[in-house]
Amino acid sequence: MPSHITINTLYSMKQKGEKITSITAYDYPFAKISDEAGIHIILVGDSVGMVVAGEDNTLGVTMDQMIYHTKIVSKAVNHAMVIADMPFMSYQTSVEQAITNAGRFLKESNASAVKLEGGATVSKTIKAITECGIPVQAHIGLLPQSIHQMGGYRVQRDEAQLLSDARTVEEAGAFSVVIEGIPADIAAEITQTISIPTIGIGAGPDCDGQILVIHDLLGMTDRRIPKFVKQYTSLRQQASDGIKEYIADVQNKTFPLKDHSY
Ligand code: KIV
Repeated sequence: MPSHITINTLYSMKQKGEKITSITAYDYPFAKISDEAGIHIILVGDSVGMVVAGEDNTLGVTMDQMIYHTKIVSKAVNHAMVIADMPFMSYQTSVEQAITNAGRFLKESNASAVKLEGGATVSKTIKAITECGIPVQAHIGLLPQSIHQMGGYRVQRDEAQLLSDARTVEEAGAFSVVIEGIPADIAAEITQTISIPTIGIGAGPDCDGQILVIHDLLGMTDRRIPKFVKQYTSLRQQASDGIKEYIADVQNKTFPLKDHSY
């Protein structure tokens, strides 16, 4: 793998038909494990509000929280591209506000790029941020920051709208686009139509790459796991077993032993 993943690495992977891997991470240990495992992109997602802070949705996440998490993730990473997710209302009020907040991620937390949600509605914002030299990953389809407007977490099926959003964010200068919660055949069509890499989540096998929330794929959550997730292990169970063993050892006086003492 190249020493550091850049947007050029990703373009070339798309051209060669090599799949791009992406995962979310929010802290130093999991960012380090993911980077050492060889992941290409680490997204510091605003999903932190749900999987780390226990909220029902991502809407309450703030810029300061995202800066903090992105900073500790960046410290751990040597190879992967670190992308910071712009939280709800950090880029919607004005283009100036969006540029200022996107810039904070590069200046204060060492991210290489930012992600923001929306298609045609945010194309001016994507253009303005990229013109400042800040790479932008777009995010179309199911938009978690718009759940109230979408009437919940629903699969998006308007083919014409999705294709038009994909083309518009590409024209605006996005270097990549996350496609969430859409039928696999539409995601495949978008992937063939646009020249920038598509990263799917709940969008079938034919995107240029895939992303999953780390807590879902490692089985760390007590939330309902969506249909599109494959759970590769159950860290929640393993952690619970370890903690129960520790409790029993202390109560049975089998920990600490002489070996653990000074
Ligand atoms: O916040 C997040 O984790 C995301 C991914 C699900 C793409 O936006």
